[in-house]
Amino acid sequence: AAVAGITLPLLSVSALALTIGFSQIGSESGWRTSETESIKAEAQRRGIDLKFSDAQQKQENQIKALRSFIAQGVDGILLAPVVETGWDQVLKEANRAKIPVVLIDRGVDSDPSLYLTKVASDFKEEGALAASWLAARTNGKCDIAELQGTVGSSAAIDRKSGFDSVISNFPNMKIIRSQSGDFTRAGGKEVMESFLKAENGGKNICAVFAHNDDMALGAILAIKEAGLKPSKDIIIVSIDAVPDIFKAMADGETNATIELNPHLGGPAFDAINASKKGESVDKWIKANGPLYLPDTAAEEYQKRK
Ligand code: AHR
Repeated sequence: AAVAGITLPLLSVSALALTIGFSQIGSESGWRTSETESIKAEAQRRGIDLKFSDAQQKQENQIKALRSFIAQGVDGILLAPVVETGWDQVLKEANRAKIPVVLIDRGVDSDPSLYLTKVASDFKEEGALAASWLAARTNGKCDIAELQGTVGSSAAIDRKSGFDSVISNFPNMKIIRSQSGDFTRAGGKEVMESFLKAENGGKNICAVFAHNDDMALGAILAIKEAGLKPSKDIIIVSIDAVPDIFKAMADGETNATIELNPHLGGPAFDAINASKKGESVDKWIKANGPLYLPDTAAEEYQKRK
C-alpha cells in the first residue's frame, strides 16, 4: 500500500488494528479500577480500538452494550459479567454474528461453547487458600464473620464455596455471620458494624473473611470504631492485593491478602487474535496469585502504590 508516495509494507490480517468492545462491571473496588486501567493501557499499546462501556453494576446495561457491539460489527468482545446467570441469549447472538466473546475475571453458567475463553483466576482456590491459612493460624478453632461479594457473582459464589469446603474439615471453625457488602468499602463497613453489634461488640468474632480487600478496609474502620484492634482482636484475611491493603498490613491492621491479577487484557487480546487465525484457545486461561503476609507488606506497598 502507498500513501503520499511512501510505500508501506503489506499488513497481514492479524496485524490489522482490531476493534474490541469491553463491557466492564463498574468501579466498585480498587482492584476493578486497576483492571480497567490495565486493559485500556494494553489495548492502546497494541493499537486496538477499544470501545469501553461501564455497566454501573447492572446486567441489563451489559446486555445492551453487547448488543450494541454486535450491531457495530466489532472484531471481539470482552465481558466481565456482573452475575453468573442470564447470559445465554446474548451470547448466542454474538455467536451467530461470529464475534468471539472472552469472559474477563468472572464466569457465567452458560454452555462454554457460547464463548471463546475465560481469562480469570480460580475463585474456589482463593477461598480455599484463605480458609487453609486461617485454619493454620487459629489451630482450627475460629468463629468467622464473612463479608460476601456481589450476590450472584461467580466471585462471591466460588470464594464462599472454596472457603466452606476447607473449614468443613475443622469441627471448631464456623461462619457465625455472613452477608454481602457488595465488594465495596462502604458496604464492608456497614455490614461489619451490624456484625459487631450482633456479636457482643465483636468479642465473639475471631476472624473476618472478606471476599475482597475493599470490604476488609471498610471492616477495619468499623472494628476500630468499635474500640477493637483489627488484626489482633479480630484476624482479617481478604482477596485482591490492592496497594491500600498492603498499607493497612504494614500498619499492623490486617493479616493476609491473596493476589488477584488485574492484568488480564494481554491474554484476552491474544486469545482473540489466535481465534482470528483459526488457532485453538484453552477454555480457561488461569491467573491465580499467592497469599501475602505482613513480612513483605511495606515492600509490596512501595512497589504497587
Ligand atoms: O470479580 C473479582 C472481584 O470483583 C474482585 O475481587 C473485587 O475487588 C471486584 O470488585
